Amino acid sequence: MIAGLSSELKKKIAEVVARYPKKEAAILPVLHLIQRETGAIGADEERWVAGLLEIRPIKVREVVTFYTMYHQKPVGRFHIQVCSNLPCSLMGGEKVIDHLQRRLGIKIGETTPDQRFTLSEVECLGACEQAPCMMINFDYYGDLTPEKIDGLLKGLD
Ligand code: FES
Repeated sequence: MIAGLSSELKKKIAEVVARYPKKEAAILPVLHLIQRETGAIGADEERWVAGLLEIRPIKVREVVTFYTMYHQKPVGRFHIQVCSNLPCSLMGGEKVIDHLQRRLGIKIGETTPDQRFTLSEVECLGACEQAPCMMINFDYYGDLTPEKIDGLLKGLD
């Protein structure tokens, strides 16, 4: 997969890496750039980034598996991440997940057959004051109810 990176992307990555005094510091933006083109960060991408930044592959693996914004396999056009930590759970997070699973016809960790939605359960999104909350791609939505969720999903069209 990594052999298919565009020359434009490789050039952009080189520019980003050059901005940092230590190559390793560029790991987050480099992973973002690669994911934007490939849709996910797989083992080949991890090894390639490790080589580029002159770090051990396990360091790249740690970053990819820690941050929920990196995908180890491609996700749907709309990636819905629902918080299931305590404040969101106490405020109805499980109902949010149940509603989304019913509405989308998929379980947590699955993608709809049309590749439109992927549903994930994640740790605290840092927006506890709006519990229960979720992200759709890079946007936050809080104080969720089934009605609000239905409106949000309709608005995505
Ligand atoms: S617990 Fe859900 S955003 Fe913090």
